Amino acid sequence: MVLESISRIIKVQLPAYLKRLPLPETIGGFARLTVSEWLRLLPLLGILALLGYLTIRPFLPKKKKQRDSLINLKIQKENPKVVNEIDIEDLNSSNVCYCRCWRSKTFPVCDKSHLKHNELTGDNVGPLILKKKIL
Ligand code: FES
Repeated sequence: MVLESISRIIKVQLPAYLKRLPLPETIGGFARLTVSEWLRLLPLLGILALLGYLTIRPFLPKKKKQRDSLINLKIQKENPKVVNEIDIEDLNSSNVCYCRCWRSKTFPVCDKSHLKHNELTGDNVGPLILKKKIL
């Protein structure tokens, strides 16, 4: 039943639909089409536009977003593991910001490079802020 319906659409209704379309003989003929003729062409033009887009989509430039799998791109790459130790007693100011985006030029301290990283990638990383209570 379903295949019969599909077969009828492809073999009978689609050719009849295409035959009734007001396709002009020349490019200039499109300019002379009426609004109702354009409306009748709209479904076909939409399908052709969709097929054209799907055809060229693999060749379109990729989005600007950075898709790397590495988190650390340049900090202490000579070391097998980056570890920073900070003694809590050495915290002098009341607020210290530590980088969690791995883009800071003053790593491990945040230099606000995360703002550019977030803008480029759509990420939402920010620093770890240590607050010291002043008694
Ligand atoms: S620079 Fe990395 S979190 Fe701010």
